[in-house]
Amino acid sequence: MSNIAVVTGSASGIGNAVRQLLEADGMRVVGVDLHDAEVIADVSTPEGRSKAVAGVLETAGGAIQKLVVAAGVGGHIEQADLVPRVNYFGALAVLDGLAVAMKGQPDAAAVVVSSNSAQMPGLISEDSPFIQAMLDDDEERAIAELPEAGAALAYPMSKHALARAVRKRATEWGEAGVRLNGIAPGTTETPLFRGAADHPVLGRSVDALPIPLGRRAKPDEIARAICFLLSTDASYVHGSIMWVDGGGDAAMRPDGF
Ligand code: NAI
Repeated sequence: MSNIAVVTGSASGIGNAVRQLLEADGMRVVGVDLHDAEVIADVSTPEGRSKAVAGVLETAGGAIQKLVVAAGVGGHIEQADLVPRVNYFGALAVLDGLAVAMKGQPDAAAVVVSSNSAQMPGLISEDSPFIQAMLDDDEERAIAELPEAGAALAYPMSKHALARAVRKRATEWGEAGVRLNGIAPGTTETPLFRGAADHPVLGRSVDALPIPLGRRAKPDEIARAICFLLSTDASYVHGSIMWVDGGGDAAMRPDGF
């Protein structure tokens, strides 16, 4: 039985907090990131995604028990095309590329990090051409359909498509015996959040978001929820998107669930 957990985005923020919890629990973690990781790879490109998957399979010896896909970029970045490339296509290439190594492993489970912005009222049109191109797995069409508002709007849309992509995989992954869930964190004190909060325009909307619990999350609080979804305590949780956002989504969409 493998005791290997793979964490993308392991060098910082939520991914790093997950890494620490899993290691404290006795797992051997194979991190994937641009720097400070066992597998150095850039998941924004097809070559980098192949390098990430091949590097993990080699390091892990072909068997993985837990997988957390956390690597992502924020809505404050200049280069908007990186948002779908990393947050959607990069995330799913790693997820799908490693599925074969999880099949047959006891208690195998994966968690993909979406965002509570994925259902934000006024931002998401479920059938937008950009979202549709992502769901159709057409990267170049997605780039062509990037919203005019750039990364700030591409971000929640990429996370919306990612959550739907997780749910679309529930049947296949469940039949393969691997639990797969998504998590939708609210604002969490990490470098990514800081970049968005300090952005002259995006920062104002970040500040305006309601948080019933009255504070932002610490990375460790999101990581604990991820570790719950990975654990046998969540043995019947599959195909879910779990909001861990201090009540922000409930405040914005009380009638939606
Ligand atoms: P972070 O910036 O602290 O960590 C992100 C990690 O992803 C970094 O280590 C970075 O090097 C890595 N990464 C970025 N681009 C990459 C690439 N092309 N290839 C490989 N690795 C790459 O950010 P944070 O906040 O920990 O974000 C983790 C996930 O949580 C992201 O997917 C983010 O969208 C999501 N999230 C974060 C929220 C927040 O408020 N911090 C809220 C909701 C979702």
